[in-house]
Amino acid sequence: MALKLLTLIASLCFMSCFMVINSQKDVYDPITKTMEEFSGYPVHEPHLQDSFTSLSVDTESLQRQIEELSTFSDSPAPSVTRVLYSEKDVSARRYIKNLMAHSGLAVKEDAVGNIFGRWDGYEPELAPVSTGSHIDAIPYSGKYDGVIGVLGAIEAINVLKRSGFKPKRSLEVILFTSEEPTRFGISCLGSRLLAGSQELAELLKTTVDGQNISFPDAARFAGYENAKDLSSVFLPKGSYSAFIELHIEQGPILEEEAIPIGVVTAIAAPASIKVDFEGNGGHAGAVLMPMRNDAGLAAAELALAVEKHVLDSGSIDTVGTVGILELHPGAINSIPSKAHLEIDTRDINEARRNNVIEKIHNSALNICKKRNVKLSEFKIVNQDPPALSDDSIVKATESACQELNLSYRKMISRAYHDSLFMARISPMGMIFIPCYKGYSHKPEEFAAPKDIANGVRVLALTLAKLSLS
Ligand code: GLV
Ligand code: MN
Ligand code: MN
Repeated sequence: MALKLLTLIASLCFMSCFMVINSQKDVYDPITKTMEEFSGYPVHEPHLQDSFTSLSVDTESLQRQIEELSTFSDSPAPSVTRVLYSEKDVSARRYIKNLMAHSGLAVKEDAVGNIFGRWDGYEPELAPVSTGSHIDAIPYSGKYDGVIGVLGAIEAINVLKRSGFKPKRSLEVILFTSEEPTRFGISCLGSRLLAGSQELAELLKTTVDGQNISFPDAARFAGYENAKDLSSVFLPKGSYSAFIELHIEQGPILEEEAIPIGVVTAIAAPASIKVDFEGNGGHAGAVLMPMRNDAGLAAAELALAVEKHVLDSGSIDTVGTVGILELHPGAINSIPSKAHLEIDTRDINEARRNNVIEKIHNSALNICKKRNVKLSEFKIVNQDPPALSDDSIVKATESACQELNLSYRKMISRAYHDSLFMARISPMGMIFIPCYKGYSHKPEEFAAPKDIANGVRVLALTLAKLSLS
C-alpha cells in the first residue's frame, strides 16, 4: 500500500513537472504565443505540441542551397552572373521549383516566369500573405542579393511546418522575374507586371536586348510560350493581405552598429535614363582638335554633370551613377561617333530626384550645343515614386524581433526591390540583415549564416503573425 502511494506521488510529481516544462515551452515559444494571441484560444492540437520544435532554422541546408544556387552562373566563382532567361537562369529556376515542391508547396508560374509556391491556409478563401525576392544576378555580382529572400522564404515555410504551425491565411513564396535590369534595361520586370503595369506590358512586345533578341523570343527560349499576353500576369489590388521581403541590407549600417535586423520603413525612389550622343567620328590622327565633335567627350562631360547635380542637391540621400558608357566604334584610333550612357539616380525625396533628372537633361542639351553633337536619345526608362512600408507589417516585424530577443533598427532602403512594386497592390514590408561591409553587386558580397538564420526566424514569425491576422 505504502509502495503504491509512493509510486502515485512520484508519478504525480513527474506529471506536474512535465506540465510545467510544457507550459513553459508554450509561454516562451514565440509562435505558440503569437498564434494564441491572435486567435484568442490555444491553437495547437495536443499532438502538435509534442512535436513542437520552436523556430529552428536548418542553417546547414540553407548554406548548401546558397552554394548550389551560386553555381548556376555565367562567370567564375566567387562571382555570380545570372541573366534573365539564360540557360543558367532556367536551371536556377528549376532548382527553386524543386525546393518549393519538396517543401510541400503548390507551384505555379505565370506568363513571364514569376514563380509562386503556395501553402494553403485553413481559411484558403482569405487573401494570402506573400513573401519572396529574386534570383537573377547582375554581371560579376554575389551570392546573396535576392537569393536570401527566396531560399530564406522557403526555409521560413519549413521552419513553420516543422514547428507544427497551421496558417490561417495561405502563405505564398514568390520568385520574381528579373528584378535586375541587366538584359532588357527594365528593373523589377516581374513585380511591375504583377502590379498591373499596362505600359510595360505594351513596351515588352517590342523591347529587344543587346543582341537584338526580343523579349517574347527570350521568354520562349526559357519555356514561357505565352509571354505575348502579359495582361494575364496582372494581379488585382488586394490579391495579398501582406507582402514581406527578406533581403541583405546592401549597405553598412547594420554591421557597423552590430544590429541583427533592419525593419524597413520606406524604399527610395529610383529612376534610370538612357542617353545617346552622335558626332561625326573620324581619324584620330588626321582630324584636328578644333574640327571635332566627339560623342565620347560629350558623354564624359555628361557623366561629370550627373555627379555635380547630385552633389548640388545638398542631401546625402541623393545618388547618381553612370553604370554604362559605351563608345562606337570602340577603336583607339577612331574618334567616337556615338556614345551611349545609362544613368541611375535615386533619392528618398521624389521631387529632389526629379529635379536632378531635369538638370541632367538640361546639361545634355547644353553639351550638344557646345560640342556640336546630336542628342539622338534622352529616354527616361523609369521614374518611380518611393514606397512606404505598411504600419501593420512594420509592427508585426518589430514584435517578432522583440519576441525572438533580437535587436533591430528602423531604416530606409536605398536599393530598390520588388517590394517597391508589390506596395502598389498589397501592404508591404521588408526585413534587412547585415552584410559584410555593406558590399553588394560585387563578388565580395557576404552575409553570415547566423545573420541569415536570424532573418529567416524573424520572417517566419512575421509570416505566422500576418497569416493569423
Ligand atoms: C537593385 O538591385 C538595385 O539596384 O537597387
Ligand atoms: Mn541587386
Ligand atoms: Mn536584390
